[in-house]
Amino acid sequence: MCGIVGYIGRRKAYPVLIDGLRRLEYRGYDSAGVALINEKGELNVYKSVGKVADLERETEGKDVSGHVGIAHTRWATHGEPSTANAHPHCSCHGNLALVHNGIIENYATLKEKLCAKGYVFKSNTDTEVLVQLIDYIQTHGAPDLLTAVQLALREVVGAYAIAVIDRNRPDEIVAARKSSPLVVGIGEGEYFLASDATPMVSYINKVVYLKDGEIAVLRAGEILKIVDLNNVECAHEAQTVAMNLGQLEKGGYAHFMLKEIFDQPDCISDCMRGRINPNTCEVLLSAVDTHKEKLAEAKRFVIVGCGTSWHAGLIGKQLIEAFCRVPVEVEYASEFRYCNPVISSDDVVIAISQSGETADTLAAIELAKQRGAFIYGICNVVGSSIARATDTGSYIHVGPEIGVASTKAFTGQVVVLALLALALGKVKGTLPEKEYHDTVAALMEIPGKMKQVLSENAFIADLSKMFTYARNFIYLGRGYAYPVALEGALKLKEISYIHAEGYPAAEMKHGPIALIDAEMPVVVIATQSALYEKIVSNIQEIKARKGRVVAIVTQGDTVIRSLADYSIELPPTLECLNPLIAAIPLQLLAYHIAVCRGMNVDQPRNLAKSVTVE
Ligand code: F6R
Repeated sequence: MCGIVGYIGRRKAYPVLIDGLRRLEYRGYDSAGVALINEKGELNVYKSVGKVADLERETEGKDVSGHVGIAHTRWATHGEPSTANAHPHCSCHGNLALVHNGIIENYATLKEKLCAKGYVFKSNTDTEVLVQLIDYIQTHGAPDLLTAVQLALREVVGAYAIAVIDRNRPDEIVAARKSSPLVVGIGEGEYFLASDATPMVSYINKVVYLKDGEIAVLRAGEILKIVDLNNVECAHEAQTVAMNLGQLEKGGYAHFMLKEIFDQPDCISDCMRGRINPNTCEVLLSAVDTHKEKLAEAKRFVIVGCGTSWHAGLIGKQLIEAFCRVPVEVEYASEFRYCNPVISSDDVVIAISQSGETADTLAAIELAKQRGAFIYGICNVVGSSIARATDTGSYIHVGPEIGVASTKAFTGQVVVLALLALALGKVKGTLPEKEYHDTVAALMEIPGKMKQVLSENAFIADLSKMFTYARNFIYLGRGYAYPVALEGALKLKEISYIHAEGYPAAEMKHGPIALIDAEMPVVVIATQSALYEKIVSNIQEIKARKGRVVAIVTQGDTVIRSLADYSIELPPTLECLNPLIAAIPLQLLAYHIAVCRGMNVDQPRNLAKSVTVE
């Protein structure tokens, strides 16, 4: 969603804020803005529609001096992308500036009250209500900015991460969070503030993750003060961030997405490091070790997630059911939270989220917790809200994912689900020893096999040119390959804006086959599997209707090669691990088609990396 940055200290604030916005641009990129207090105590606010680069152009030749400031990159929820709706928003008395990530649900009621008191609004956003409310409280007797913010937030219903500055108090930033992430970075006599730690890693490595209901007061040279809405001090502990700058750069690739696709062999090795003993082929997953009984006794697993994470969950279901012989359901978190689900203390809920901030997944966790379920989180972002809301879990450790379309997080999630299923299958005694060891051994070979698939990049780039002008695509797969088909279709949709649908291959004849003609590209994941013969028949059905088949096949396959128009070969692996390598050509295909169409691959229209609103 939106990204927030703040700085107070001895440095010039503007370059720190702009650099931070660039690093957070993946969170929102329809408009951006910055507010600074200069040495004379003047508040300068600059905003622009578009990207951070547009904001920089807007500030050219203007006063961007000052050692305290806040900035924002927006993904519109209330009000279209426009300069007026861009943050920071200012109070009508001109002394306060505020940036916000989240949604103020009762903004209409608050706005009506403020309008009745003579407040005039310049934007259509929910956020402006908040800054005007703080202003109203401040001008009606609140002794300081902190108190005004506390009193205002008591009236607010919704989710927020905010940062406020006051030109009459140029020595402080007040920041607060509820259901939207906010991190304080601690330097030598200086503080950084951001929606996640990425804007800070080139300056500091100590951070405090604010908790829901906490308000931080940042004053250069003073100790960090964190209180709640009732002004009760909150204990806090600084943590060390492990991220480095190299992980945040493109490293010579044209786009973050391409880099992240190519990073996968290393990411998967990082994800498995310390979790598989290479000598004994034993899986050591600390969460399973610590909560053996709870997990082994679960009557049912319910996996919740959204988008790509949900697709990983569909693979997780097959893995857990195969290895642990326990029923698994997979739910969209957004549906689960509102469907009055039948959940009890007999259930284990697995919440999957790359960002660890997805509002629907977080709400699903809260609901499942209330009903007594034990919650296992699978997240990428360390210290994220979901990671902290769960009873236990495993990080996927694939490093920061900047490209909006998820790639390495998907394969990381599948690896963790495979490790979880293996470890649990072993504990429960449901997985024969040989199958266990063969699967672990095959898992260790996956990074090498990913490298082989990545060597097909030039071929896939060429192939993509044939499909630049396609208007629709169908993706088909069966068993473990079906979620991969869904994921391939999602990748293509989100970055190339070509309509694409994924189906279980056998479902095609129940409707979608009507769409097949000579114009329709059909990507079929047709690797060696128990259902191979059936997939061959599915391909014949498509060819009989003149569809153009791109088949993902196992090396050495001559049967499907002779049927399909184009084939991409994968090295052989176990069927249950095939999604880890089959996803890669589909990621590359989507990437190259989008590049051929001239799309902004890393920041596709209307999308945000971290969906912290409903
Ligand atoms: C697709 C994509 C989204 C996310 C979804 C959930 O490429 O990135 O579908 O998977 O928004 O996000 P997380 O995993 O952060 O909860």
